[in-house]
Amino acid sequence: MEQQAITKFDEQTEKLINLVLELKKQRNAVILVHNYQKPEMYKIGDYVGDSLGLSKQAAETDADVILFCGVKFMAETAKILSPDKTVLLPTLDAGCSLADMATPEKLAEVKKMHPDAAVVSYVNTTADIKAMSDVCCTSMNAVKIVDSLPNEEIIFLPDRNLGRYVASKTKKKIILWDGYCFVHDKLNATMLADLKKKNPNAKIIAHPECKDEILKMADHVCGTGGMAKFANSNGAKDFIVITECGMTEKLREDVPNKNFYSFCNICPYMKSITMPLVVQSLIHNQHEITLPQDIIVKARKALDRMLEFN
Ligand code: 13P
Ligand code: SF4
Repeated sequence: MEQQAITKFDEQTEKLINLVLELKKQRNAVILVHNYQKPEMYKIGDYVGDSLGLSKQAAETDADVILFCGVKFMAETAKILSPDKTVLLPTLDAGCSLADMATPEKLAEVKKMHPDAAVVSYVNTTADIKAMSDVCCTSMNAVKIVDSLPNEEIIFLPDRNLGRYVASKTKKKIILWDGYCFVHDKLNATMLADLKKKNPNAKIIAHPECKDEILKMADHVCGTGGMAKFANSNGAKDFIVITECGMTEKLREDVPNKNFYSFCNICPYMKSITMPLVVQSLIHNQHEITLPQDIIVKARKALDRMLEFN
């Protein structure tokens, strides 16, 4: 993908942005936007960031309504952390196939096989899985959290690539789960080598959901929240960014004096959130996230334990 100028919006999009800003005021709503969203979503967001930052914001807000421009596990996390708020997800198409790869039945089986192991679940899991976990983590804090636990064995789920990355950084025994994010997992070393050939001076930044062969070629491995920091502090002018390509657009906005290149690699779940759906969501209160009280209480313990680390 070639370097592009910062996005300009058409008249219709500008109108919708203004309508959302007005509706947001009327409803005393806060809009939380993940880095992978489209650039117009940055304009309506009270906060744009990574999974960890979004969780913190959801825990701290005093708004009546939290609208999530992200995916369902993020909205569920907001509901768990702020159970008295109305939490809205503009479309139920915004799921996550990685989160769906861990089921409570399978986790119960694995726990039985490893009774002394702690369960560390990536936030990319359903609320049911969080409720069965000792602690949650994101790509930003996974290694730190695993290292802090007294247990020698860790069941790490659901992402096998992030799990392998954590295993390479810790002395603990990591029991991997066979889940993956198809957006990251489909990329391989040959593709990256081709892109590097075209941009030989570029430093490579890769998300830890990528395969090991990609991470081995990277100059820096981090979650979406660490990418701008690395690009700002590194002396290079050009960067190849290996993650969902919304992040590349975000970096072009945040670090305008540097060049960012990537594959056009889209997460359809993230991109199912559109401005007209956000308008509908604020007007008709759809789709409200609800969770059973017992799940909220148990999952909250795992999320609170994660947030204590930061
Ligand atoms: P982070 O923003 O925490 O790096 O997560 C990326 C992701 O895959 C979200 O689905
Ligand atoms: Fe899920 Fe991957 Fe999309 Fe993130 S990028 S929401 S992990 S499918």
